[in-house]
Amino acid sequence: MPIQINISDQACGAAVTGVDLTQSLDDSQVADIRAAWLKHHVLSFPDQNMSDDDLERFTQYFGGFGHDPFFDPIEGREHIAAIRRDADEKSPLFAENWHSDWSFQAHPPAGTCLLGLTIPPVGGDTCFANQHAALDAMPDEMRAKYEGLTAIHSAQMAYAPDGAYGEKDEGRSMAIRPDESARETERHPLIRAHPETGQLGLFSCMGYIIGFEGMDQQEALPLLQQLYAWQSRDEFVYRHQWQPNMLVMWDNRSVLHCATGGYDGHDRLLHRTTIAAFQA
Ligand code: SIN
Repeated sequence: MPIQINISDQACGAAVTGVDLTQSLDDSQVADIRAAWLKHHVLSFPDQNMSDDDLERFTQYFGGFGHDPFFDPIEGREHIAAIRRDADEKSPLFAENWHSDWSFQAHPPAGTCLLGLTIPPVGGDTCFANQHAALDAMPDEMRAKYEGLTAIHSAQMAYAPDGAYGEKDEGRSMAIRPDESARETERHPLIRAHPETGQLGLFSCMGYIIGFEGMDQQEALPLLQQLYAWQSRDEFVYRHQWQPNMLVMWDNRSVLHCATGGYDGHDRLLHRTTIAAFQA
């Protein structure tokens, strides 16, 4: 059966059926999925009863494994992290702010794969914001303020020992490992061409972006706040509802994403891999 792509009626996202991800894929299936991923930015694959081996094999069709700096992997695997929240957990939600995964790296990952294992009966959606659409719709006057800026990225606010997931973060079931190296910085153009499609978009947002090159913080902060509000407007968002045995892959170069709550009293567990930066 050929691969079917069912496009969402939101700002991005498509559901893919007609492919069995528990089996090896042939070159044409991989090419079709890659093309759909680049076009729709977020793909979901329902009803895939995948093992961790299947998840790793799927990830590698789209690049090598990226480096996950502040998580311990699950036992027995080097490249799979557990996105986990227990029913009785009280710590703040993980990844509740918009972000592009590991944008503070020198070569940020192309994408992320997330496999839903234990999915709560309510809540726990993941939201995605299309950053090509956000740039395209930006009024000229606003865009002029951001054109040509180089953003300074760092993981410090999240993963430094005094960051959100640092030493004061207690009772978390996820294996997050804060570290001093989170204070390191990398620079990337704020408006940049997608490395594979060439389409212009906004890359990352306040949180991992901590300032702009050559600009003092007093000037940068309001610009970052205004930008964050624009980047995450409803019209750019696709809200993804999970099912058990559903795989989602997204393009970190095109979308921001964030987790949502609303499932207190229920466990949630997903296995995550990171797709390394694209090598031409
Ligand atoms: C993530 O950002 O990797 C987690 C998203 C989610 O838990 O919905």
